[in-house]
Amino acid sequence: MSGLPKKTLKAAVIGWPIDHSLSPTIHRHWLAQYNITGQYDPIAVAPNELEAKITSLVGAGYNGFNVTIPHKTNIMACLDYIDPIAKRVGAVNTVWVEGGKLMGANSDVFGFLAHLEASAGKAWQRQMPALVIGAGGAARAVVVTLLDAGVSEVRLTNRTISKADEIAAHLQETRVKVIHWEGRNQAISGVGLIVNTTSLGMAGNPALDIDLSEAPGDCVVYDIVYKPLLTPLLAAAKARGLLTVDGLGMLMHQAVLGFGKWFGQVPQVDANLKAAVRKAAGC
Ligand code: ATR
Repeated sequence: MSGLPKKTLKAAVIGWPIDHSLSPTIHRHWLAQYNITGQYDPIAVAPNELEAKITSLVGAGYNGFNVTIPHKTNIMACLDYIDPIAKRVGAVNTVWVEGGKLMGANSDVFGFLAHLEASAGKAWQRQMPALVIGAGGAARAVVVTLLDAGVSEVRLTNRTISKADEIAAHLQETRVKVIHWEGRNQAISGVGLIVNTTSLGMAGNPALDIDLSEAPGDCVVYDIVYKPLLTPLLAAAKARGLLTVDGLGMLMHQAVLGFGKWFGQVPQVDANLKAAVRKAAGC
């Protein structure tokens, strides 16, 4: 046993590998800020030990977890309840214990929208079509969020078109229009929002090759990449005078749900947190 006082509230982030995770920085910052007796641990969990490890951590008094790669889908089989939005996304990243049951939700959805609203506010024309670039796990969360937020159309483009087709088929939504990768520049015409969910533009990767000249002047450009904070896409958008939203805020806002569930306090995303996370991320 750890020898910690009984009242210590415990949560963790589980993944494989886990060393890169910024979640400990975020949650430990809030634990200190709100003077909560708690701990938040990064725990490496191999794919074949997921269920056993969850059971042992809950037995050891953990109130819940953030779940990251590669467990976001497989964790769903271990839960008693899954929030309907997480079901639609097909991924859970936040788990908590409630009345002896394991509950799961997808806070990437919440984080993406909260950061967009905080950064762009009314400047984002949410009834306009949106262009989503990429078709990985992050894209799924973004597409579900935008549909729920009331966009008139989601134009979904990906280098491998079959993955975009899969998302469209899974969601069964007439508002999702799959666009060929070669058609991405034309698809910018008339959109209120462009979101990059690919890893292009991340330090060490090539930039996203896209031409923003057709973008309406009131279009918002959102990049979920946060290292560097000013990606080539956001730099090009700024040069065109477009409003930009960086990826770091989504990471911070998605942490709010879990912290509230595990530690009983809804935390604020503020400049101090952003400074701490930027320092830890080196961006
Ligand atoms: P995540 O779950 O974080 O979204 P992912 O599932 O690995 O990550 O998805 C990465 C996304 O980046 C995919 O849309 C991928 O396109 P493919 O489906 O064609 O692989 C996109 N991506 C990565 N490298 C790319 C490149 N060089 N050109 C175009 N798209 C790229």
